[in-house]
Amino acid sequence: MEPTTFVLFGATGDLAKRKIYPALYLLFVDQKLPKSFSLIGLGRRELSDETFQANVEQSLSTFSKSEGRDPEVMRNFLRAFRYHVLDVNRKEDYTKLLQLVEQREDELNILPNRMFYLSVGPELFETIAANIHESGLGSANGWKRLVIEKPFGHDLPSARQLNIQLNQAFDETEIYRIDHYLGKPMVQQMGQRLHSALSEQDLGTRNIANIQITASETLGVEERAGYYDHAGAIRDMFQNHMLQLLMMLAIELPNRSSVVEVGNLKKKVMKTLKPLHKMDVSHHIVRGQYGEGEINGGKVAGYTAEPGIALDSLNDTFIAARLKVDDPFWKDIPIYIRTGKRLKEKLTRIVIEFKSESPLQDHLIVEIGPNDGISFQRSNSGKEGSDVDKPVQSKLSAIKAGIPEAYEILIHDALKGDKTYFAHWDEVELSWEWVQPILDAYRENLLPLHIYPAGTYGPNESDKLLEQDGFHWFDFK
Ligand code: BG6
Repeated sequence: MEPTTFVLFGATGDLAKRKIYPALYLLFVDQKLPKSFSLIGLGRRELSDETFQANVEQSLSTFSKSEGRDPEVMRNFLRAFRYHVLDVNRKEDYTKLLQLVEQREDELNILPNRMFYLSVGPELFETIAANIHESGLGSANGWKRLVIEKPFGHDLPSARQLNIQLNQAFDETEIYRIDHYLGKPMVQQMGQRLHSALSEQDLGTRNIANIQITASETLGVEERAGYYDHAGAIRDMFQNHMLQLLMMLAIELPNRSSVVEVGNLKKKVMKTLKPLHKMDVSHHIVRGQYGEGEINGGKVAGYTAEPGIALDSLNDTFIAARLKVDDPFWKDIPIYIRTGKRLKEKLTRIVIEFKSESPLQDHLIVEIGPNDGISFQRSNSGKEGSDVDKPVQSKLSAIKAGIPEAYEILIHDALKGDKTYFAHWDEVELSWEWVQPILDAYRENLLPLHIYPAGTYGPNESDKLLEQDGFHWFDFK
C-alpha cells in the first residue's frame, strides 16, 4: 500500500473516537496500514501532540473492541499521530497545515499522497474542500482523496449543489462517500452467500413473491435532536442505507454480479425503480412517529417529549415504502422497505418470501446485524411458537474475532484506493431523485403522520401496506 498522510478534520469529535481510531488501530495491529503512515488530527482546541496521543489512547480503551492492547504496539501506533489547531474558515490555518504536512512527508521521506477525512458536520464540507484546493494542499505530486460521511445533501437540489462545489476541488474518482451499511460484512458477502445457498433457478422470478427490507432500532433520537428533527427517518436511513441495501440485493438477482461492475449495476437498479409522483406518495409510503411506550420492560417517552424536540414536531421517525422495479425480472415482485426508531428490536434484515407453490420453504432470511447469517424459515405470521426449520447455514456472530467491522473495511478500502463499496455520485443523485416526491409530500402534508407506541413494529398502516397485496411483514413475534 502506498505511503499516506491521513489528514483528519474533526479529530476530537465523537465519530473519530468511536469509529475512526478503533478502526485504524485494528488495521495497524493487522498490519493493514501503509508501512509509512502519518496522521494529522485537526481541531479547534489547542492541544499538544502528546495530549492528542493520550486522548486517542483513551478513546481506544473506551471504544475499541480489540482485547489486550500491548503497550509497545500502542506506542508504535501513536507515534504516527500529530495534532494541528485549525479553524476551518481561516485560510492561514490551511497554509500552516500545508507546512506541517510537507514537513512530515519530508521526515518520513514519503510521496505526498494525502487522504482528507472530513469527520465534521456536512455544513462544513464545501468550505473545507475549497480551502484544501486554494491552499495548495490538494495539488501535490501524489494522489489526493476526500472521505466524507453522510448526509450528502438535504434534498435533491442541495445534494447537486454540494457535488458541484466538491467537484471544484476533487474529481468524482477522488471522492469516497461513506455509507457504513456498505461496509457491513454481510452486505459485501450477500451475493456469494445467496448464491451458495440457492441456485439461480431458485432465485428466479417464478419463485419470489416479495422482498422485505427492515432496519429497526430500539434507540430513540438520543442527544441528536438538532440534526434528527430536520432529517427524519427518510434522510437519516432511507435515502442512503435502505436504498443501498436494496441496490446491493438487486444487483445479485437472479445472477451473481461481478465486483468490478457494482457501481454501474447499482445505478441501473436506481434507474429502473418506478418513480413515485407526489400525489401517489400516500398510497405507497407510510409515515410514522413514535409515541410513548415500553422498550425492554422500561417506559420511554414519545418523540415530542424528547429533549430539544418541539411539541408540535411532525418529523418522521418511521417510514415504510412499497417499491417496484420496472424491468422484466422484477416487474411482478413488490419490494417493501421499513425503518424506524424506538421499535421492538434492533435488527437489520432482508427477507425473500417465496411463493407458496415454489419448492422452497417460505422465507430466506438474510440477517445483516447485530447477528449475521443466512437461513430458511417457515412463516410464523401470527402463530406463537410456530415451527422454524433448521437454518441452511449456521449463523455467524456479528463481532466474532477476526471479522472486521464496517469502518475498518471502508477505511482500508479508501487507503487502497478501492471505491467499490462507497456511494458513487450517480446512485446518490438517483436516490435523491426517487425520494424527492416523498419529501415534497411530507412538506405539503399530503400524507398523515401515524403515531405508533414505542416498542412495537411501527404503525398499523405499515402492516396494511402489505395486506393490500396479500402479504405480511415477516417478524419473529
Ligand atoms: C446512522 C444513523 O447512519 O445509522 C443513525 O444516523 C442510526 O440514526 C445508525 O442509528 C444505524 O446504524 P447501525 O449500524 O447501528 O444499524
